[in-house]
Amino acid sequence: RVLILDFGSQVTQLIARRVRESGVYCEIWPFTAGDERIRAFRPRGVILSGGPASVTEDASPRVPDTVFALGVPVLGICYGQQAMCLQLGGAVETHEHREFGRAHVEVVEDSALLRGTWQRGSREQVWMSHGDRVTRLPPGFRAVATSEGAPFAIIADEGRRLYGVQFHPEVVHTPHGAALLRNFTHDVAGCSGTWTMAGFRELEIARIRAQVGKGRVICGLSGGVDSSVAAVLIHEAIGDQLTCIFVDHGMLRAGEAEEVVNTFRGRFNIRLIHRDASELFLRELEGVTDPEIKRKTIGRLFIEVFDAEAQKLGGADFLAQGTLYPDVIESVSFTGGPSVTIKSHHNVGGLPARMRMSLVEPLRELFKDEVRVLGRELGIPEHIVGRHPFPGPGLAIRIPGDITRDKLDLLRRVDTVFLEEIRAAGLYDAIWQAFAVLLPVRTVGVMGDGRTYDQACALRAVTSTDGMTADVYPFDMGFLNRVAGRIVNEVRGINRVTYDITSKPPGTIEWE
Ligand code: XMP
Repeated sequence: RVLILDFGSQVTQLIARRVRESGVYCEIWPFTAGDERIRAFRPRGVILSGGPASVTEDASPRVPDTVFALGVPVLGICYGQQAMCLQLGGAVETHEHREFGRAHVEVVEDSALLRGTWQRGSREQVWMSHGDRVTRLPPGFRAVATSEGAPFAIIADEGRRLYGVQFHPEVVHTPHGAALLRNFTHDVAGCSGTWTMAGFRELEIARIRAQVGKGRVICGLSGGVDSSVAAVLIHEAIGDQLTCIFVDHGMLRAGEAEEVVNTFRGRFNIRLIHRDASELFLRELEGVTDPEIKRKTIGRLFIEVFDAEAQKLGGADFLAQGTLYPDVIESVSFTGGPSVTIKSHHNVGGLPARMRMSLVEPLRELFKDEVRVLGRELGIPEHIVGRHPFPGPGLAIRIPGDITRDKLDLLRRVDTVFLEEIRAAGLYDAIWQAFAVLLPVRTVGVMGDGRTYDQACALRAVTSTDGMTADVYPFDMGFLNRVAGRIVNEVRGINRVTYDITSKPPGTIEWE
């Protein structure tokens, strides 16, 4: 197994993801994890992540000396490379030639890190993001590749099996980056690559049991992929010590509430409280049009209702959440720079602060597609595991302007037709997320011999791998025509259909 020491990079989790994809178990710990813990973990290799600090500053993070004393291979990425170099006797400077984004490296030496991927003389695309750079190598190291902004873009001390890269091999913009990481974990560190999601399941179950003991756990279940997988996993670990609370805010899609109840009570035998709070939510949202106020109102009410239900149960010791890795970073900040709140995600943060309970978050390190693999492993039905993501605030953020019961009903009907057609065309699994948006405008149309003056809707369908960037799904016109025809004919109150062709960025997936 491999230990990843985190120096605060936005993409540390991607390193873990690549390592897992190569069949190697890994854990991410903060760089402050003590020597003893690191030794006890007995890693076969250590990866040092990037980070926002500058090693040229006195108070900046350092690599624990134990890491170099273990005698196992070490790979430093960006900040990790710089810290390693400085600590082993090299030099690092802040340079005015900063590199951000795509860059190219020239490979000048062969290395075990590059075996089968890059050779001496090749020029390779990588993704850089650095202001500092190594200017003098520590004893024993040599340069393996250089770039315009970094004379030591890849460095190696093959004898001690210490490696450093100035670029980020973990991001997709470094096309062969995954192969480099694989070389490190397999060839250099000698990991076998046989670890799977079944292993994760066993390990998480053991971890949950260890964390929870005989305590009681409550979990907010929404019927989405994340909370479903979290609930089933935790239930497998601790059975009836878990109670799920399903707060129905009335902004779910057609038939969703029944399905949640049937699946979790019926199929999995999970203790489930179903609280229909739609009246309360609609009343409080009356006249609210600002997207952030909508999100915050829903978030606040959700917490209140959840809290009240938890009180009725007599409280609990732990709160379980299906938080995924992208939820964590996007709530903190988007990409670098000072943190900017793009949207207040209602499922992260609020509950724990209010309820003062310890968190159980078994999916916190995973990405959506990994959660799906885990869900299948747990036997959760495909219609839940394979389901498109659905935001916590539900249909409320797909109705620009104020929200009413009628609008929600109208939107549900449009959404149902759109998704029926997508499934019928066999496109559901090729799309990350597809949904309808009810527009706050009325436009003129003609149906039969009559004039109509009804509402317009927008359809949205995107492809994505993690929800952080997205491309528009390129439906053919025949498909769009068929959907638009059905919507206008079958959903009374809608007389115009548009297709949203904005990617993310600059758009976001949801409209609010
Ligand atoms: P945006 O609209 O920010 O959405 O591009 C990215 C992904 O996140 C989902 N989303 C949410 N999920 N709570 C959630 O659980 C929220 O408050 C929330 N807002 C957006 C969105 O559906 C997309 O998959």
